[in-house]
Amino acid sequence: MELIDCILTRSSKRDFKDIPVPRDVLDKLLEVSLNAPSWANSQPWEIAVSTGRTSEFIKEKIYKPASEDNPGNPDYPFPEFWPERQANNMFETGTRRYEALGIARDDKAGRREIALSNYLFFGSQTAIFIYMDQKLGHWSTLDCGMLIQNILLAAHDLGLGACPQAYLVRYPDVLREAFKLPGSKKFVLGISVGYYKKDSAINNIKTSRTSLKDVVRYYE
Ligand SMILES: Cc1cc2nc3c(=O)[nH]c(=O)nc-3n(C[C@H](O)[C@H](O)[C@H](O)COP(=O)(O)O)c2cc1C
Repeated sequence: MELIDCILTRSSKRDFKDIPVPRDVLDKLLEVSLNAPSWANSQPWEIAVSTGRTSEFIKEKIYKPASEDNPGNPDYPFPEFWPERQANNMFETGTRRYEALGIARDDKAGRREIALSNYLFFGSQTAIFIYMDQKLGHWSTLDCGMLIQNILLAAHDLGLGACPQAYLVRYPDVLREAFKLPGSKKFVLGISVGYYKKDSAINNIKTSRTSLKDVVRYYE
């Protein structure tokens, strides 16, 4: 796939088939993605791939507190405030998503079901977790973002679906337990990855973007 096509046609997938992604496909995905740039090639990221029983363990342990509305203790706190422009973008994205799925604004149960499916990897057996040492700061988080975008694009090119998910790192103690990691390792993001249901409505939502003229200024 041409790179520009890949960028333009990628979208987050949230309804996966219950089948594993072969190890060699995951290896290829990650090997390619590791070519991401980073500050002085420091490569701050560490990667845990969860499959099989480990995924079952994580799903069970994170679904429960989520279903009890436990806000968790993410290593990088979730934002509590969004400026107006970002808040509007998020509102519009949510509205479009629920409209596309035929879920009414006051259908709290329908919305809750979608939110909770985050914690089940949206039906996939596989998730990739990015973490790094707690001593690392802003620039290393940025480097992890570069890696994550590579993973999303390479997954798309390989015919896989993926969804980057802050919600997957909401209960990081569970992840440290699952991956036998010390408290000094901090979780940046999780990504559900897998073969997705092509006809599923939720997998066919194209989110909009603010137009170039509204976000770009040229200075001559
Ligand atoms: C840092 C980050 C965190 C995200 N967290 C979640 C999440 O927890 N759950 C979810 O369903 N989508 C999550 N997303 C996906 C965004 O909602 C999605 O990228 C955005 O709506 C644009 O849609 P697109 O990816 O289909 O282009 C996250 C994306 C990013 C970059």
